[in-house]
Amino acid sequence: MAGELPSLPFPDGSFDLTLVSYFLFAYQERLTCEFHRDSILELMRVTRSEACIYPTITFEAQPSQYIPLPRSDPALQHFQFTELKTDFEFLMNSNSFLRVWPRLNAALQWPKE
Ligand SMILES: C[S@@+](CC[C@H](N)C(=O)[O-])C[C@H]1O[C@@H](n2cnc3c(N)ncnc32)[C@H](O)[C@@H]1O
Repeated sequence: MAGELPSLPFPDGSFDLTLVSYFLFAYQERLTCEFHRDSILELMRVTRSEACIYPTITFEAQPSQYIPLPRSDPALQHFQFTELKTDFEFLMNSNSFLRVWPRLNAALQWPKE
């Protein structure tokens, strides 16, 4: 079934893991901060465990200006965020991704940072 962020046609908790590749953060010049916030909320609505958003840079190979926002936006306070390095580098500098998971379950699912 196809869908489009920021509104997906799936029930709550449909997926164990949700992956985003070259959409959020990459298109920051076209997609607003609010779009990113609403999309992360929607991804986490349909996700039981975690979402990974790759990469954390733009198509100009610059760090996305939106990366700090998830941690400071009150609407996303129920989630934890960590930016992780990866050996995979599809385009230049695209060697990190953002992992998102529910704050309440963090102690059960992930080692402490
Ligand atoms: C650069 S491509 C990345 C494709 C694939 N994820 C990859 O990594 O190879 C960007 C993708 O975003 C999709 N897209 C555009 N608007 C979208 C939206 N509102 N929600 C979800 N995907 C969208 C496009 O259809 C396109 O496939």
